[in-house]
Amino acid sequence: MKDIVALCKRRGFIFPASDIYGGLNGFWDYGPLGTELKNNLRDAWWKQMVITPPLGPDGTPVEIVGIDSSIIQNPKTWEASGHVGGFSDPMVDCKETKRRYRQDHLIVLTSDKADRWPAFHEEAEDSEIEKKLKKLGMPADVSLFEKVNLTKLPVADYEKVVGPDVKEPGTLTEPKEFNLMFHTYVGATASEDNKAYLRPETAQGIFLNFKNVLDSSRVKVPFGIAQIGKAYRNEVTPRNFIFRSREFEQMEMEWFCAPDEAKMWQDFWFDERVKFWRSVGLGSDNMVMRKHDADELAHYAKEGLGTSDIEYKFPFTDPGYGELEGIAHRCDFDLKQHQEHSGTKLEYMDPTDNKNRFIPHVIEPAAGLTRGVLALICEAYTVDESRPSGVYLNFTPAMAPKKAAILPLTAKDEHVPLAQKLYLELREEFPVDLDIKQNIGKRYARQDEIGTPYCFTIDNDTIEDGTITVRERNTMAQERISMDKALDYLREKMRLSGEEARKKAA
Ligand code: GAP
Repeated sequence: MKDIVALCKRRGFIFPASDIYGGLNGFWDYGPLGTELKNNLRDAWWKQMVITPPLGPDGTPVEIVGIDSSIIQNPKTWEASGHVGGFSDPMVDCKETKRRYRQDHLIVLTSDKADRWPAFHEEAEDSEIEKKLKKLGMPADVSLFEKVNLTKLPVADYEKVVGPDVKEPGTLTEPKEFNLMFHTYVGATASEDNKAYLRPETAQGIFLNFKNVLDSSRVKVPFGIAQIGKAYRNEVTPRNFIFRSREFEQMEMEWFCAPDEAKMWQDFWFDERVKFWRSVGLGSDNMVMRKHDADELAHYAKEGLGTSDIEYKFPFTDPGYGELEGIAHRCDFDLKQHQEHSGTKLEYMDPTDNKNRFIPHVIEPAAGLTRGVLALICEAYTVDESRPSGVYLNFTPAMAPKKAAILPLTAKDEHVPLAQKLYLELREEFPVDLDIKQNIGKRYARQDEIGTPYCFTIDNDTIEDGTITVRERNTMAQERISMDKALDYLREKMRLSGEEARKKAA
């Protein structure tokens, strides 16, 4: 990881934010190549979601529209979503369902005779508790247990606790006291009345615009609203380079559907999202799909709590995995909350039956754009002692910040004008690099390190017969082609690699 971070800085992918002041923990800046790489991943996501969304189970393209909402919204947003109240008390997270609970709202049934201690919301009725005990295969008699508030339980005992919405123990994290939202004041006075928050997720901006999109466009359930943008979390422990930062970017889509179709759509989006990550280059075993088993799925689908994750084996998680994207079943929770808090009806009226009004259920594929960039870099990083750079970045051509480099063999008069001519032609269609200075070996090394798939070299033969050398990044194989054909060559290579990526995805 140290080598990857060093390469990212040396070659201009990612720098510590405010570097000349010693940086700021949890914040990062994207350099010239990092910005290109991030834009490529962002654009691929937007294309797959909004421009050419996939075909649905009935063989026709699904419908998704894009929005770009404010980072600062009416603070009531975050009361409704649960982030204001939810983040300011000691909270425990369920690693499985991603649900967050107030620690002091949970009651645990303890017993020195049981190795699993089920937890419930403090308001749970005994009949509800007994039902869950039965489901867990435990004696369905509340009197055999002692009811203990979770705040009274030592954290070491959490490994025995079965969270309220799961079946296995050990998924609750230790409590966190911190409110993860950054706040600011809107207007001149820094009073409580003017307090506002930087969004901790892009998702809520989508729910806030659900009615506006319905009223202004011709979408019909099922449909999706997609958004890419910055999110802010005052993470207690930002770490692992850009993996967990305090300012980051998300790519989220909320898929609004009929309640009885939600489970089917969760499976659909899970498969589509896996295909996406394969198509951008995460084709290896480093990516895993953590789908809930059938038994769990039925349970979650009913209650709208399940999340299936796509995870990646980062160098710092190895042999474990870190989350790249979650595909969550959010039920009707968010729209219901906003309807209640705003007083605005957020129901959908079935156009074929205006008596059928309902709040759609939501499936949410939520991915990290900046975390995705890290996965692409880690996947591409390839050690190869046989070449001068000792390493190259094996990006797919579509993700590579530069598709080709144009290198005059020498900075002599005859080579440079030809190189400039080729550069001006190619840059109309592709991001390309014209690199004139230094010996050719050093320039190849630089292009290897930034992951440029092709280098075109102009030499004395170019003056004689109009041919140039093409060097392929991964194999370092060289061939000569006519300079006139360089654009066609690059077009064909990009087309073939696009096809290969689609095949890999399928
Ligand atoms: N709307 C749901 C939501 O925000 P999440 O799992 O908290 O869900 C979605 O975030 C994705 O955003 C994660 O899978 C991860 O890729 C990315 N992400 C979350 N927190 C992050 C952080 N502090 N730094 C970088 N990426 C983060």
